[in-house]
Amino acid sequence: MAFYGSVGAQGYASMAPRTIAATSYAGATSVGTIPGYAPQVAQPFAYAGQPTYAAQPTYAAQPTYLPATYAASGISSLAPRAATVLSVGQPVNMGFVSQPVIAPVAAPVAVAPAEPEGNFKVCVVGGAGGIGQPFSLLMAQCPLVSELAIIDLNVAMVPAEGVQADLSHIEGKCKVTSTVLVLNEDKAIDKAADALTGCDLVLVPAGVPRKPGQDRKDLLNINCDIAKGTVEACAKYCPNAVVALIVNPVNSVVPAMCELWKKAGLDPRKIVGISTLDVVRANKFVQELTGMPCSIPVIGGHAGKTILPLFSQDPAGASIAADMIPALDERVQNAGTEVVKAKNGKGSATLSMAYSGARLGKAVLSGLAGVPTTECAYVESTVVPGLPYFASKVVFGRDGVQEVLPIGALSAHEQKRLEELTPILQAEIADGLEYAKTRQFAK
Ligand code: LMR
Repeated sequence: MAFYGSVGAQGYASMAPRTIAATSYAGATSVGTIPGYAPQVAQPFAYAGQPTYAAQPTYAAQPTYLPATYAASGISSLAPRAATVLSVGQPVNMGFVSQPVIAPVAAPVAVAPAEPEGNFKVCVVGGAGGIGQPFSLLMAQCPLVSELAIIDLNVAMVPAEGVQADLSHIEGKCKVTSTVLVLNEDKAIDKAADALTGCDLVLVPAGVPRKPGQDRKDLLNINCDIAKGTVEACAKYCPNAVVALIVNPVNSVVPAMCELWKKAGLDPRKIVGISTLDVVRANKFVQELTGMPCSIPVIGGHAGKTILPLFSQDPAGASIAADMIPALDERVQNAGTEVVKAKNGKGSATLSMAYSGARLGKAVLSGLAGVPTTECAYVESTVVPGLPYFASKVVFGRDGVQEVLPIGALSAHEQKRLEELTPILQAEIADGLEYAKTRQFAK
């Protein structure tokens, strides 16, 4: 048994980007950066909050600019849109793939809105694993976090005390602690009282990762048991915390844990399945194709066909030719498998998962701090009839899930895909409900 997990940086729509952009667009061709802050991507003009597309870039000059992976997925024959032409008629490669081109700053610049600050206590369960280490790093740097508790098994990749010592040398206000549980001996409910008491957010990148050829479903029983050990300890020591799970199969583990949480008389708005990596991947793949920043909602679940990116709901996604959408959609669905294969038996996505989990974690903390923040997440839901758990846009507020937003208008392709995924997701939810039926949390 091993824990795994981790998370990352800011996103486009809801998280404050650490990039400053020209506020006045009159003739602006530049993207400035704050000294000392490495921008994740070069953001185009007018990015104070939501990206604006008022001055739609044109694609008159379209270079052939597709990564090899698109060639493999059959997308290469389609028109790439990697160069953006700004209104002054000057082509600028926005550098989303490998070559940021940052033009000289020519116009007044404005700093993006400050990230909210706070003094929340966060625990990363599995914090010494592949996801857990970068996840812990990112959360320790978050201005909303003043205490980070790391829990992991004695057989983790490195000792949890080592991760604690390492992170404790990073400047900033965050105090870091660690708790080690001995495999097959210690239970979180007996040993993690100090780590969990007072927590506002518990991030759980834990469980066994899949191997090539395995489906996320193959991990159901072992990972449900691992999740239960943590979630029952949260029910005891921090019943008001938001518990965010990256434990596969998310589609079944989250319903199982949420039902057990409800059985214990607790608030289901606190149980969240992290599906942010699907959004991050969809955004990345669309940026590679269009050269435009984007914010693609991804609904459904977090496995195979249940992952449904809504390209039609974002200006960059909607600009992609209809005949490219099925291959792009499949690439998002299979992106986890792409990483599992590339890691060749040595795990699944860790760094991008850590990045994505941190993005979700920061959204939750912003909500707790009184700044309602929207991210896609897999939660108890009524937005699609017959699917009591579903990933869609969720507004996080002071109590965790404040509102689950409707899925909005779908293209014909997306509507068809929703119909296809419904029975698959229903069966996976049923697996989770079945697990919860015969069990309850230890006290
Ligand atoms: C992912 O999407 O990368 C994770 O769910 C890990 C996996 O098994 O694919």
